[in-house]
Amino acid sequence: MKILHLVTSSRGAQSFSKKLGVAIVEKLQAAEAGSTVQTHDLTATPFPHLEEVHINSFYTPLEARTPELNAAVKHSDEAIAELLAADVIVIDVPMYNFNIPSTLKAWIDHIARAGKTFRYGEGGPEGLVKGKKVYLSISTGGVYSEGPMKAYDFTEPYLRFMLGFLGMTDITVYRVEGVNLPSLQDAALPKAIAAIAV
Ligand SMILES: Cc1cc2nc3c(=O)[nH]c(=O)nc-3n(C[C@H](O)[C@H](O)[C@H](O)COP(=O)(O)O)c2cc1C
Repeated sequence: MKILHLVTSSRGAQSFSKKLGVAIVEKLQAAEAGSTVQTHDLTATPFPHLEEVHINSFYTPLEARTPELNAAVKHSDEAIAELLAADVIVIDVPMYNFNIPSTLKAWIDHIARAGKTFRYGEGGPEGLVKGKKVYLSISTGGVYSEGPMKAYDFTEPYLRFMLGFLGMTDITVYRVEGVNLPSLQDAALPKAIAAIAV
């Protein structure tokens, strides 16, 4: 089994989403001997915001690309190859302002490519990234799995829809939640790790 672990928190070793993501990876490795792990820290060399040259490169056929367009499409080609090579993808998701971090959004902008990871068929859009298992490791200051703030969690609904649009529909979510709430913060990580069932 090939595991791809996407690290997206800027908080390095302090990151709860990373600690939970690592725990998920370790349980996956324990469950299947010989599994390999590719860790990609998206904060180390962030994917660029999409500029005109990137978008032009996506829509220009290979044979018509200039050296500039070839250079621009490289980030996307590499990210897609890395994604397609994986069987399991573990994605750390620190909630920033009720949504996913921009490092992760930039990665999504580079892997969502018509003709490569999805296509428009007669029956509408079809995701082409099939047969993957995805784990989301979401970390939040408040509580969003239930209660009054659930409606304001734009991380899980967005990722379920977006990854599903690309064909990744088998998604399991684990949460470290309430890390900023004194009554919950101490137990938040141990509780999240104890909940992992792979
Ligand atoms: C820039 C920033 C924005 C945040 N926005 C929210 C938020 O909207 N809601 C929330 O519950 N927590 C918010 N938090 C708290 C984080 O979600 C929490 O610290 C989480 O543990 C971050 O993930 P990490 O530990 O993997 O870095 C925010 C933290 C930062 C640094």
